[in-house]
Amino acid sequence: MADSQPGSQHGAIDSVLNETRVFPPPAPERAGTPRWLVSSMDEYRAMHARSIEDPEAFWAEAAGELHWFEPWSKVLEWSLPDAKWFVGAKTNLCYNCVDRHVEQWRGEHIGIVWEGEPMPGGEPEVCRLSYAQLQTETAKFANVLKGRGVKAGDVVTIYMGMVPELAIAVLACARIGAVHSVIFGGFSAQAIADRVVDASSKLIITCDGAWRRGKVVPLKQNVDDAIDKLDANTVETVIVLKRCGNQVSRADGRDVDWHEQTNAASDDCPCAPLDSEHMSFLLYTSGSTGKPKGIQHTVGGFMVYTYLTSKYVFNLIPGLDEPKRDDAQNGQVFWCTADVGWITGHSYIIYGIMPTGVPTLMYEGAPNFPGDDRFWDIVQRHKVTQFYTAPTAIRAFMKWGDKHPKKHDLSSLQVLGTVGEPINPEAWMWYHRVIGGETCPIVDTWWQTETGGHMLTPLPGVTPTKPGSCTLPFFGIDAAIVNDQGKELPKGSGGLLAIRKPWPSMLRGIFGDRERFIETYWSKLPGMYFPGDGAHTDSDGYFWIMGRVDDVMNVSGHRLGTMEVESALVSHESVVEAAVVGMPHEIKGTGIAAFVTLGNGFDPTDDLKAALREHVGKQIGAIAKPDQIRFTGALPKTRSGKIMRRLLRSIAAGETLVTQDTSTLEDYAVVAKLQESEEG
Ligand code: PRX
Repeated sequence: MADSQPGSQHGAIDSVLNETRVFPPPAPERAGTPRWLVSSMDEYRAMHARSIEDPEAFWAEAAGELHWFEPWSKVLEWSLPDAKWFVGAKTNLCYNCVDRHVEQWRGEHIGIVWEGEPMPGGEPEVCRLSYAQLQTETAKFANVLKGRGVKAGDVVTIYMGMVPELAIAVLACARIGAVHSVIFGGFSAQAIADRVVDASSKLIITCDGAWRRGKVVPLKQNVDDAIDKLDANTVETVIVLKRCGNQVSRADGRDVDWHEQTNAASDDCPCAPLDSEHMSFLLYTSGSTGKPKGIQHTVGGFMVYTYLTSKYVFNLIPGLDEPKRDDAQNGQVFWCTADVGWITGHSYIIYGIMPTGVPTLMYEGAPNFPGDDRFWDIVQRHKVTQFYTAPTAIRAFMKWGDKHPKKHDLSSLQVLGTVGEPINPEAWMWYHRVIGGETCPIVDTWWQTETGGHMLTPLPGVTPTKPGSCTLPFFGIDAAIVNDQGKELPKGSGGLLAIRKPWPSMLRGIFGDRERFIETYWSKLPGMYFPGDGAHTDSDGYFWIMGRVDDVMNVSGHRLGTMEVESALVSHESVVEAAVVGMPHEIKGTGIAAFVTLGNGFDPTDDLKAALREHVGKQIGAIAKPDQIRFTGALPKTRSGKIMRRLLRSIAAGETLVTQDTSTLEDYAVVAKLQESEEG
């Protein structure tokens, strides 16, 4: 098996595994929930067995909990690598997130709770949107999009901060079948330009700026710079929402104001009945080679899978069948701290959560503004019941100290979740003890942009948990540990993680690149989906993720390709060659180490290091700035000219190299020099 990334903490996990502590599920009253939706491991195992033996019956039943304009003729058509779920059926994501609640009896219930970052006078800006308001606002904005020529299937680019209008924009696209491509607000102008070109997108929705730690991120300016980089003038409309009150330019005929447009728009725009397999969105993510790839998701399968995982993994019980105004939402408030710009936000802020009828909380800003206790202040004030975040955030909270959560009443919490990277057992224990008060189950959810929803995860109140393990497969997921040839390995073995059966929210392709789709996911292991992660099981069959086995890094839970960062570095005038590897990082899990060879006439100074970091920030975004840059006369290569990343990873991690096999190394002197080179 190829090397896994450092920072995946599997050393730490192995040591825990030897004396694994098992945390039995708490009783519902202990966690403060009315009940656990699945009541025992026997029930989980029976449901899982049924979902694998008769997936069509299982998923038809799940889909039956949602609204369809027309029924399917067949639940699944599968011809590897192409899946069609709910064949021939017609449905709409926005209808299921919003209109369905209004049509039934919950129009006045809250769908979205939003809190802004600034706290002028110590008071937060809070906005609560009912399903009825969301219906009006999404219909109006959908009419704005239609008015600018957007039709079903057209790609709309969204580059906004975490404002309520972001959710409205996304849902408005879903309403009319426009395909959204949301770009995280931390990405650069170049990254926007690349994605706009790849998707042939003619319309961009943005904000004047976004609040981040008290400062304004100039979103509109980045969009203007991105458009300047395009070869042809392909962007016809930019819709700008004013949020931060900063000055932005306004290109005549192209730039229009969100409020001017929506104020003039009709609120009559019924949800379009869309084919279940219609493309709902594109989301760009990093791979091991080339530019980020546009992962394609659907309407029907994506909706059913994200809904069912939301319901069971977070134990959401809004009481949809009981028209009693006051307690019908069971007091649950779900908060996922991700940005909508990532898959976690797509699936578990909007599309999976909203159909459950539990209000979803969106927070605009940083976890440490104005103080290090901002998140816990939010949990207390909004009585958050489900809290879903990333290990990198948990490690930062640990570092900031227990006093911040301890200032607040966190007793509303029922379930805690984590996602994005392996969680080290120390962080898991801290989360369990300090945030969960030892009464909340932790769901460590393993999944990917490509999988659309949770794949390996405990069910709260049911699955006994072990710190660092994402435990067992969700319903319908047939996961195994296999060797390079796809042969299943026995319990307790380490190898490649593989998924052997199709599931409803699986990616349907890479936009415009069928070959890469087949090659990346469907060619490595015969007849199976290859996620690119290494993992092992233990004697209970629990899964432990060891990290990526390809050239993808997981930095603070965000995916970045080593080649992407290398390309950014070599596009700087001073750089002749660059190699990038992951390295262990206390907070980020994996940090970025860059080894750089300079051209003649460039001096290896600290100023140049700083300039290179800035340059990478401009090319990709701040998350890609290397943590460590080392200048080197040459890079260690095999005789066939391949950069020896394994060696570089060891050097970046500060390990001694005596144990490494360097028999194929071209020039050992290069390594010796690299070891001496100064990091920084
Ligand atoms: O390596 C795995 C890691 O994140 C990768 C997927 O990244 P992305 O598509 O950006 O999606 C992140 C949010 C779903 C995976 O291949 N990963 C994700 N969740 C976990 C994880 N590694 C270990 N444990 C997890 N819970």
